[in-house]
Amino acid sequence: MHSVILAIESSCDETSASVIVNGKVLNNIIATQAVHQKYGGVVPELASRAHQQNIVAVVHEALASADVKTTDLHAIAFTRGPGLMGSLLVGISFAKGMALGLKIPLIEVNHMQAHVLAHFIDDPKPVFPFLCLTVSGGHTQIVLVNAPFEMEVIGQTQDDAVGEAFDKAAKILGLPYPGGPLIDRYASQGNERAYKFPETVMPGLDFSFSGIKTAFMYFLRDEKFKNPDFVEQNLPDICASLQRHLIQMLLSRMTKASEQTGIKEIAIAGGVSANSGLRKELIALGNKKGWNLFIPAFEYCTDNAAMIAMAAHFKFLKGDFCGLETSPLARMPF
Ligand code: KG4
Ligand code: ZN
Repeated sequence: MHSVILAIESSCDETSASVIVNGKVLNNIIATQAVHQKYGGVVPELASRAHQQNIVAVVHEALASADVKTTDLHAIAFTRGPGLMGSLLVGISFAKGMALGLKIPLIEVNHMQAHVLAHFIDDPKPVFPFLCLTVSGGHTQIVLVNAPFEMEVIGQTQDDAVGEAFDKAAKILGLPYPGGPLIDRYASQGNERAYKFPETVMPGLDFSFSGIKTAFMYFLRDEKFKNPDFVEQNLPDICASLQRHLIQMLLSRMTKASEQTGIKEIAIAGGVSANSGLRKELIALGNKKGWNLFIPAFEYCTDNAAMIAMAAHFKFLKGDFCGLETSPLARMPF
């Protein structure tokens, strides 16, 4: 079945559009919102305003670079949730207006399912069933994926997401938002065994990251008491040790999940999967355990519309469309 779909992502602070033709992603246009940097985190009101400023240009660029006219489109896809309400509403309203004007169907996509389905953009693709560690600024989940939309969360954080732990630790160190990529950069020059941090062990396959934030704060307070220049003098070692600690927490649960389910097809997704330490450690562990690993290209790790387009393609094949009454107010089914 011939299909040309435009997908829009606007759940947080990236305005993104992508065109997918017959299951092949043609582009992935992303406008990143620099406005949040000076506030040390995403400011929801500023995010939705920036989406409004960017969305027309981003959609135009996606259509133009794919050489697709609006009249060529068969459906418009958008992120319905989870995400920031004001941000989601911009993408949803834009998608509804376009679909209504063009008299074509709408496809709603769950952002977290899309992170998992990003693995179907490029080869090699995972074989069902597989396990996906989805790690972002808002989520930390181990997902058992039986089919494109048959996913079960078998483990998740009970408090903060791991991306939040990266970003908050960076903030405590005085680094700008988002701190995750900066910790990654400093960590590459440091000694990961310089400092040790306590681990909160949760039952089953669940995670907890709120304790590490407090432990990290007290650790720095004590060290700075002894040496006021402690952070400036030891930044790479601090970042490397903290990063190793967070990675170990993630990988120990993934090992347990693989042992419990007997599944050795292992994938990672979400913004934190861009972390070079996590990618390296996962490859080493995978080699040891005989896992078949799927690590996405960097541009498909953080928020992007290509993953929304991929999920939309699977929904288009099933004829799974939504009506104009669709709203981010109701929780998007997983
Ligand atoms: O998936 P994503 O773009 O947005 C959400 O849906 O949350 O993830 C953003 C998160 C932020 O916490 C950011 O600091 C983190 O991903 N992140 C990283 C790296 N790149 C992005 N964390 C650690 N190392 C990185 N290289
Ligand atoms: Zn995301």
